[in-house]
Parts: sequence; C-alpha cells; structure tokens
Amino acid sequence: MTAIVQPSRGAGGLGHPLTGAFVAAMGAMATGVTVVATDGAGGRFAQTVSAMCSVSADPPMILICLHGRSPANEAIVTNGVFCVNVLATQHDHVADTFAGRPWQGKEPWDFTCGDWDVAGSGSPRIQDAIASFDCTVHDVVEAGTHKIYIGEVNKIASTDGTPLLYAEQRYQRPETHEPSVFEEFPDARPSYLRKEKAE
Ligand SMILES: Cc1cc2nc3c(=O)[nH]c(=O)nc-3n(C[C@H](O)[C@H](O)[C@H](O)COP(=O)(O)O)c2cc1C
Repeated sequence: MTAIVQPSRGAGGLGHPLTGAFVAAMGAMATGVTVVATDGAGGRFAQTVSAMCSVSADPPMILICLHGRSPANEAIVTNGVFCVNVLATQHDHVADTFAGRPWQGKEPWDFTCGDWDVAGSGSPRIQDAIASFDCTVHDVVEAGTHKIYIGEVNKIASTDGTPLLYAEQRYQRPETHEPSVFEEFPDARPSYLRKEKAE
C-alpha cells in the first residue's frame, strides 16, 4: 500500500510539518555506518555517521553530514581534517559509543572501544575499518540542522571484513539477494549473472 503523507503541524505547532514523516521515511533506508574522527588543535572527537557518500572519483572526494549540535563540528573546522572509518560487523559497540549510547561499563565518546592508528592527517583511524578515507576539509555547507563537510581524500586504507549496516532501527549484516523469478520468462537473469550461467 502506498501512503501519502500530507504536511500537518504538530499539537505544539513547533517544527516543520513534515519532520516526523521525513524521519520515519528516512528510517526505511538501509545505510552503511561510519565513524568520522578528527584530531589536532581543535581536539580529538569522533561521531557516528551514516550520512556519508561519494562525491567525486577524480579528484577523490566524499561528503558527510553532521548535526550542528555535535562537538565534532568545531574540532573538524579547527583541525581542517577528518578520517571517515567505514565500520565492519565487529564495530557495533564502536558505532554506539560515538552515537552517545555506550555499552555497560563504557563511557560515551571513549576511544578505548576500538584499536586506533593515526592517519596521515593526524586523525584517528580504526585499524580494522573495512575502508578509511583520510580527508582535508574542502568545503562546508550549512543546510537546516546539519553541516555538510566535503572532504578531499588524501589517503585510503582498507581491510577485509563484512560491512555493518543500519536498517529498521538496528544493526544488520548484508545477505545475498537471489534474483527475482518471472514465470513467463524462466530464463531471465540479471546481465551480470548471464555469463556465470553460460560457464
Ligand atoms: C547508526 C547511526 C547513524 C548516525 N548517523 C548520523 C549522521 O549521519 N549524522 C549525524 O550528525 N548524526 C548521526 N547519528 C547520530 C549521532 O551519532 C548522535 O550523536 C546520537 O544519536 C545522539 O543523538 P541525540 O543528541 O539526539 O541523543 C547516527 C547515529 C547512529 C546510531
């Protein structure tokens, strides 16, 4: 069933009328999970971020979106650098730590939850991140509640592992999707599997 959500003000009349529906609809997206970390004169901070994506391959650039309330903002601007660590399934507690919801016996924002290296920029890099992008801040754009940081990638590292996913308000792991089957086209297969079948 398709639900169409019309804008409506909440009882208190505060906030944009679509905010609740927007947050709920964005929750339908599956994402990867990263921890964005910085260090330097502005201090050492890290923040869990799912809003990360590729911008350009030549030169390599990525973007991240950070809530304006995050203390990482000031540090990233002062330091001018950050490292985006792409988390694997063993990093669920690291994601929670830097989302301000640490596991029992741990403090929020506590770097002892992981094994860190120092990336070329001086930013903390998770040793077994499945990918890490060490960046210099190229541009900052303010948009609503968030700031968008475009980073120029200076160094990339990667390790084997299974990407940590976030979907349906919980951490998940990828599962292979079997191609759809159509009765009237029994031999229909996605093009990338046709070769495999012929072999
Ligand atoms: C899986 C996951 C992804 C998140 N992605 C982002 C993000 O992309 N940008 C952001 O600013 N905060 C993101 N957060 C939220 C921050 O980590 C935030 O500090 C934390 O949820 C605390 O929010 P609160 O101040 O509303 O309690 C994410 C949190 C989790 C658990």
